Amino acid sequence: MNIEQAKLRIQKLKKQIIRHNDAYYIDDAPTITDASFDLLYKELVDIERQFPVLVQADSPSQRVGGKAKISFSQIIHEKPMLSLSNAFDTKDLEVFDKRVCDELGVKEVQYAVEPKFDGLAVTLHYIDGTLSLAATRGDGNTGEDVTHNIKTIKSLPLKLSAQNSASRIEIRGEVIMHKDDFDMLNKEQKKSGLKLFANPRNAAAGSLRQLDSTVAAKRPLRFYAYSIDSSQAKIKSQEQGLDELRELKIPTSGLSKTVVGVKQLIDYYKYIEGIRKGLPYDIDGVVYKVNSLNYQDELGFVSKAPRWAIAHKFSAEQVETEIIDITVQVGRTGSITPVARLKPVFVSGVTVTNATLHNEDEMRRKDILIGDYVRVRRAGDVVPEVINAIHEKRPGNAKKFIMPTKCPVCSSILIRELGEAALRCNAGMNCKAQKKQSLMHFCSRKAMDIDGLGEKIIDQLIDVNLINTFSDIYKIKKEQLTGLERFAEKSADNLITSIEKSKKTTLGKFIYALGIRNVGEATSADIAKHYGAIENIIEQDEDSLQQVDDIGPTVAKSIYQYFLDVTNTKQILSLVDHGVVWEKIESMDHEANSKLNGLTFVLTGTLKNLKRDDAKSLIQRCGGKVTNSVSKNTSYLVAGEEAGSKLSNAIALDVQVLSEEELINLTKET
Ligand code: IVH
Repeated sequence: MNIEQAKLRIQKLKKQIIRHNDAYYIDDAPTITDASFDLLYKELVDIERQFPVLVQADSPSQRVGGKAKISFSQIIHEKPMLSLSNAFDTKDLEVFDKRVCDELGVKEVQYAVEPKFDGLAVTLHYIDGTLSLAATRGDGNTGEDVTHNIKTIKSLPLKLSAQNSASRIEIRGEVIMHKDDFDMLNKEQKKSGLKLFANPRNAAAGSLRQLDSTVAAKRPLRFYAYSIDSSQAKIKSQEQGLDELRELKIPTSGLSKTVVGVKQLIDYYKYIEGIRKGLPYDIDGVVYKVNSLNYQDELGFVSKAPRWAIAHKFSAEQVETEIIDITVQVGRTGSITPVARLKPVFVSGVTVTNATLHNEDEMRRKDILIGDYVRVRRAGDVVPEVINAIHEKRPGNAKKFIMPTKCPVCSSILIRELGEAALRCNAGMNCKAQKKQSLMHFCSRKAMDIDGLGEKIIDQLIDVNLINTFSDIYKIKKEQLTGLERFAEKSADNLITSIEKSKKTTLGKFIYALGIRNVGEATSADIAKHYGAIENIIEQDEDSLQQVDDIGPTVAKSIYQYFLDVTNTKQILSLVDHGVVWEKIESMDHEANSKLNGLTFVLTGTLKNLKRDDAKSLIQRCGGKVTNSVSKNTSYLVAGEEAGSKLSNAIALDVQVLSEEELINLTKET
């Protein structure tokens, strides 16, 4: 075979393989046997091996990349990957629907409704038609590059058909595993003596996080899309977006509909709940989205979730078991939680042996005793909980659990602060339980991300007195490790390397790593963005902290108190002294001018140049405030094209209306 012949044969094989792939993975209607398919594939790989110059990025052989990666690179999402607010009952839906209609100034609004996949959020970038980048959601702003693993998903085209190839297409959806594929995988795992996966979601998550794409390629991953952002297509609604996805041969649920009104939302929920068991994949609820993209834009976002969508989750499975004992657990921030030790029971895909009783008041209110029969549930990733006791079945010897007065780990006297539900051990890092958990949190993936410093090793290093504080981690020398059990030359080297690597971080991750009470990942990122530098945060009081988006009095108090403690500020200095660094952030405060101080703005319609988020941050940077609805306190309404009811409200209330250009001029005026 010469190169010309090889080229032709490759083209032909490629087409055939893609066609059979689609028939198998997309249409669920294969037309040849697996063995014949394997022969075609083998022929392609053989020819490509003979003529490496002919290998193209979209060849089916390129689904499994070259070498395993050493680590995941970080990808900053152009638009944040948000989460969804939840509705639990009809009342929540009525409130949601009314708010949406009021905000838009309409009587009723059309929703696109669809199943909520129980998998992992992933975003795909097709550049000039080629699948070029795939990233996990991560903290919503920054995710991990999983392109090598996503390319192994055979139901996803590596290249889009030419007529649809806009220069940039971003597609978001979930990576999941079909239930029958999951069963097969676990059978294989068992045969090979490997650990079984608890449920399809965990199996998908474990597979997506493989550094080696040849491992991921053996796992039957799938991708289902729920949104598209294209540089070309004129998509005006969620419904049209899904149509466009189907045209591009990207898998979607195929179960979406458009409906109007709360009754139809609930009908859809019931319908999907009814067919749930028969679906090939797990879902954990449905999602309702305002169908019009213009309306979505107008409604905007609140904290981390859109105001134009809501998830309606199915209620979690409940099972019955017995409480063998009750003990208490000391949390990372010292809270003392009563925990029921259960007779093992299988619920929502995993075996549960412990369930939280939350706090003493809750346990008494539910009248739960040791020995009781109870109902437990496990919803999503949250800790399993005891719902109630089945009092009719209470055995004669059931006994009350008395909360301890001293910390079970460090013996400090426990305190219950005014207005708090939890008893608390205030010993901080002097309590071994809190020390261990704080260190685990500090090293965790979303914090300093120190690979290899997991629970067991942290335990060991605490026991030999090598680490007591965060900065001790950065003082560890290789020689100190090699003398220890479980550490050989190589593993000591690896740990030192990952500790070293972790020094380069972001301010958001660093703040999160500190483990300040009530300050999660998203809040940490918000604070970092707002203040830009740790010194700026330390000097804030409780009131000024509340100027950060989404920070209320409780969180502000926690942050303020944290930095009031000199042990904490010393700890931060010491970490910086040991080489922990983060890139500088252009904080909102830094660029600030005060042209718009004291003014309140509302945005409506489609702006020509600025994206809505950009307009919002421009106003905020200049000291102005942006709210969602027009009132007599609104200083200006900034109106773009197709402005809706907000414009008429503004006119009625005599609120001055600005164009985009006028807004920009206002921020520049001297
Ligand atoms: S829309 C801006 N639609 O749910 C909101 N999300 O809480 C974007 N999810 O991890 C989400 N199925 O990946 C949307 N049909 C669906 C979904 C869905 C599952 C996931 C999403 C994210 C979480 C949001």
